[in-house]
Amino acid sequence: MQREPVQIVLASSLAQREPAIARWITSGRGSLAFILGDEDCRYRLLADGINWDRVLIASRSDGVIGYAAFKHHRLGPFSPGLAPFVREFGWLGGTLRYGLFMISECREWYYGFYLYGLRVHKVARRQGIASTLLQAVFEQALGGGHEKVELEVQAKNLAARAFYARHGFVPIRTLRWLSRLMPIPTVINLRRTLSPLSRVPTK
Ligand SMILES: CC(C)(COP(=O)(O)OP(=O)(O)OC[C@H]1O[C@@H](n2cnc3c(N)ncnc32)[C@H](O)[C@@H]1OP(=O)(O)O)[C@@H](O)C(=O)NCCC(=O)NCCS
Repeated sequence: MQREPVQIVLASSLAQREPAIARWITSGRGSLAFILGDEDCRYRLLADGINWDRVLIASRSDGVIGYAAFKHHRLGPFSPGLAPFVREFGWLGGTLRYGLFMISECREWYYGFYLYGLRVHKVARRQGIASTLLQAVFEQALGGGHEKVELEVQAKNLAARAFYARHGFVPIRTLRWLSRLMPIPTVINLRRTLSPLSRVPTK
């Protein structure tokens, strides 16, 4: 059966910012739940500070089916203020959690162009959606003057590792020290070098 082609746009170009999209994007970062709380809490903390020009949206006529969030030039998908943290956790707890979140964000600064998150709705997987999003991510990186894309993937996320391996990402190092310092899973830093003609295999 012929599939409807997927549309990829920068979220900042959309006329409307749908709360459902913000909710989906902020539901990522589950590994930081000990700082950011559960999904509802992450939405309250982060939704007002989304940088929509750091989010690519994949959609078909039936709605949004995937997104990719990225970080470069020191700006990622989230720039939350301190206020929602204080509202949520009080002065002391809020400031501490805000500080920890900012430290975890700084960790990604040295990557240059960092793929912060990539997700496709369960019902739309294995249809090439993430591959199409990745191609758009590469274009963003090249457009921003970057020659490589880096990311961190949880070591236990075998599906994502297979996906990134298929797209030419190679492991650089395993970050075990992070999981010794904080209750977060072991992650692997992956890198893909780009050339101006970099294309991903799509279906
Ligand atoms: C990983 C993820 C983004 C892949 O999205 P997708 O749209 O299904 O990926 P594609 O259809 O473009 O897959 C392209 C290729 O990647 C590989 N791949 C994708 N999912 C795979 C899986 N579950 N197991 C093994 N290989 C997989 C395959 O080689 C696939 O080609 P094929 O379907 O012809 O075999 C999706 O499974 C997802 O959203 N997972 C949850 C969030 C997540 O883990 N994100 C990545 C961490 S940052």
